[in-house]
Amino acid sequence: MKVAGKQIQFYYKNVMADAIGPEHGISRQQLDELARQTTPLIPKIKDEIVTGNSRYGLLPGDPQIAKGVKKLVKQFKPKCENLVVLGIGGSALGNIALQNALQPWTYNLENNKRKGPRLFVFDNVDPALFGAFLDFITPRLGKTVFNVISKSGQTAETASQFMIIQKMLETRFGKEKLKDRVVATTDLEKGTLRKIATDAGLSTLVVPDGVGGRFSVLSAVGLLSAAMTGINIDQLLAGAADMHTRVINPDFFKNPAAINAAVQVHYYNRGKRISVMMPYSSALYGLADWYRQLWAESLGKKFSLDGREVFVGPTPVKALGATDQHSQVQLYREGPNDKIFTLVEVQDFGKKIRIPAPPKSAPELSYLNKKDMGELLNAEKKATEYALCASNRPCLTVLMPRIDAYTVGQFIFLFEAATSFAGALLGINTYDQPAVELGKQATFALMGKSGQYTPDKSYADFAAEIRSMTNIDEQYLV
Ligand code: PA5
Repeated sequence: MKVAGKQIQFYYKNVMADAIGPEHGISRQQLDELARQTTPLIPKIKDEIVTGNSRYGLLPGDPQIAKGVKKLVKQFKPKCENLVVLGIGGSALGNIALQNALQPWTYNLENNKRKGPRLFVFDNVDPALFGAFLDFITPRLGKTVFNVISKSGQTAETASQFMIIQKMLETRFGKEKLKDRVVATTDLEKGTLRKIATDAGLSTLVVPDGVGGRFSVLSAVGLLSAAMTGINIDQLLAGAADMHTRVINPDFFKNPAAINAAVQVHYYNRGKRISVMMPYSSALYGLADWYRQLWAESLGKKFSLDGREVFVGPTPVKALGATDQHSQVQLYREGPNDKIFTLVEVQDFGKKIRIPAPPKSAPELSYLNKKDMGELLNAEKKATEYALCASNRPCLTVLMPRIDAYTVGQFIFLFEAATSFAGALLGINTYDQPAVELGKQATFALMGKSGQYTPDKSYADFAAEIRSMTNIDEQYLV
C-alpha cells in the first residue's frame, strides 16, 4: 500500500464480501447503500463539530489555545522536575495516550535524556497507589507542578486528590504559594474548580465551552502535559487540522471517518456488537484506551434523538498486537462472529532492531536471522488479519506511516469524527453521558453530601435507598 506523505490511511478491503465471504462481508451494493445513507450526514457533521453540541472541530484551528499553553510552559517548566496531572475520564485518558504514543517508554526513568519533567497522571482514587505516590513525591514537592483538570470541579475522584495535594502544598509552602505549583484546567466561568482557582489566584487554562471531556484532548486539557514534556503540540494540531479537511470531504469514498462509521454501524446492526481496536504498537495502546472511552460514552445510549428507548451501543474492546495473539485471538477466530476489528499498522517504527542468528542448537529459529523486529511485528499483524479473514471476521486497518505528533493528531481527529458519524447513524445524542451522572450523584450521596438530590429527595434519603440495594445480604454470602 502506497503511503501519501505523512498522512495516515484507512483501509477497508477486508470487510468486503470478496475478502471474507458473502455471509459476513459487505457487498458492493451494500457499500453503495451505506454511501447513500451516510453522504447526507457529511455536511451535517461538518457543521455540528464547529457549531453544535461538541465543537471539538474548532480546536485544531484555534491558535489561542496553543499560545495560552505555551505561556504557562514557559512559566512553570524551569522549576519543574515532576508534573502531576489530576483528572479522570476525558480529563486524563488523552494525556496518557499522548504520553504513551509520543514519548519513549523509559521517559520517566532517564533524567538526562528527557526534554521535560517526569509525568504522572492520576485518574483513580486507589489509596494504595496514591499513597505510594505521595511517599515518592513528598520529598520532591519543591520541584513539582500539579495540573488539576476538571470541567465541573465536582468530580469526586479529582476533587479528593486535589484537596489532599492542596493541603500538603499549603502546609509546606504557605497558602499564598499554591499558585506557584498548581495550574487548574477548567470551565471558563462556572464550576467548583473555577471558584477554587479564583480564590487561590491560580493560573488557569480553559476546557472550551461546548467541548465534552472525551473530545477535549486537543484543547488545553491534553496540550499542557504534552507541551511540558516536549511534545510538538503545533504538529499535533496540524495533523488534526489535516484530518479535519478529510473528514468533511463530501465524497463518502474519500472520507475515512464516514466510511469507518458506516461500516461499524452496518456490522452493529447485523449482530457484530463488539468493536475491537488492536494496534500493533505498544505506543498506541493508550490511544486504544482513549478510543474505548470515546466510543463507549458517546454511543452507548438508552434513548434515540426522537425519544424512543433504543438501548444502542457497540462495545469497544482494546487489544494489543502481538501480545494479545497469545491471549484473545483464539476467541476472536473461533468464538462467536460478533466482532469487527480495527488493526493499526505502523510502517516505520523509527528504530531497527536486528535479530541475530540463533544458537547452533536451534536451527529451527533461523527464519528470524537478520530480520528486523518491526518486520516481525508487521508480519504478525498481517498474519492475524489473514487468519481473521480466513474465519470470515471483518477487519479494518489504520495505516500509520510512523508515530509522530502529526500522525497522532490525525488519528485522534479521525476517531472523534467517526464517533460523530456513528452517533448520527445510530440516531442518538453522541455528546451527553446521563448514565455516568447517576453514578456520580450516588457517590455524592454515599459520601454524605447534604441538601437535596432532587426536589423530592434529599441526598440522605438517596443514600439510604442505595444502601438498601447494595449492603451485603448475608443470605447470599458464601
Ligand atoms: O467525557 C466526559 O465528559 C467524562 O469522561 C468527563 O471527562 C469525566 O467525567 C470528568 O469530568 P470533569 O472534567 O468534570 O471532572
